[in-house]
Amino acid sequence: MIKPDAVLDGHSGSILKMIEQAGFRIVAMKLTKLSPERAGQFYEVHKEKPFYDGLKEIMSKSQIVALVLEKENAVADFRKLIGSTNPANAEEGTIRKLYARSLESNAIHGSDSDENALLESRFFFSRTEEY
Ligand code: CMP
Repeated sequence: MIKPDAVLDGHSGSILKMIEQAGFRIVAMKLTKLSPERAGQFYEVHKEKPFYDGLKEIMSKSQIVALVLEKENAVADFRKLIGSTNPANAEEGTIRKLYARSLESNAIHGSDSDENALLESRFFFSRTEEY
């Protein structure tokens, strides 16, 4: 998911280009907006964290780009492409190093396992198995 500030900052196109050039196939994509409640559902796993309310606000402030991507070893390779959660620790040339504003607004989210990738795909798209 390309996060609101990255879309607002005009980086969606550059980020999509990096994703495609890294060998990912875009299986499904949509520009949409999350309500604070839906952003909270997406990040339910973090609901006890001190940053949860701020995260809901940042993730619902404007549109996001939801993506389903396909590649061998996709989860690990995508995490390499996007870089560390905190852009201050992200490797040079990663999406977060290039386009994140801060830890709270770190440009992009990637699933952390195949299982969560499936759950998160279903959060945005009803029939990804058909693509
Ligand atoms: P993301 O990969 O989308 O997963 C959860 C998000 O919460 C994370 O990126 C950050 O944007 C945010 N986050 C994680 N840790 C912190 C933290 N310590 N303080 C504030 N925000 C955080």
